[in-house]
Amino acid sequence: MSTVRLEQVAGTDASLKAALANAHLPTDDIEDDGRTFFKAIVADGRIVGFSGVELCGVDYLLRSVVVLSEHRGQSLGRAVVEQTLARLDRGDVFLATTNAAPFFARIGFSEVPRDSVPASVLATRQLSSICPSSATIMKRTRPPT
Ligand SMILES: CC(C)(COP(=O)(O)OP(=O)(O)OC[C@H]1O[C@@H](n2cnc3c(N)ncnc32)[C@H](O)[C@@H]1OP(=O)(O)O)[C@@H](O)C(=O)NCCC(=O)NCCS
Repeated sequence: MSTVRLEQVAGTDASLKAALANAHLPTDDIEDDGRTFFKAIVADGRIVGFSGVELCGVDYLLRSVVVLSEHRGQSLGRAVVEQTLARLDRGDVFLATTNAAPFFARIGFSEVPRDSVPASVLATRQLSSICPSSATIMKRTRPPT
């Protein structure tokens, strides 16, 4: 697997906001409290992507996963997600996506029905207002293949 290390960044970080905007991912709520964001750095010091998590009761929302376009297809997305999840305590991990479900399925997430999702996750701004109701909600259900 590609090696990345994560460093926490503030929701106000300009490079985070630019990467999310370029990937058409939500930025409206990234400066709200309760979110933790990371930049992913490779051995030569370059930033190759970002990720974020929100604590929702005992569960987590994984969000803002992005690999900069010139670095995609090198297993960095997988590495970013694995490194991000390795930082979490126990609890289920959910996400909402409009176009990256096949990627997340490849790394151990499965689609779940909205009515099975904990209220604390549904109450996040991502799920309650920013993501369209047609977004696919996924949960990490098995080790990655
Ligand atoms: C989704 C994204 C993070 C994937 O990053 P990446 O570094 O290219 O992904 P990886 O190389 O780590 O891919 C891991 C596996 O998923 C597969 N995969 C990646 N993108 C895929 C896609 N769009 N459809 C199907 N499979 C995909 C890869 O082929 C790879 O499979 P393998 O294990 O058999 O080799 C990247 O395309 C991106 O930043 N997209 C824009 C932002 C976005 O949509 N983020 C998710 C919203 S929360």
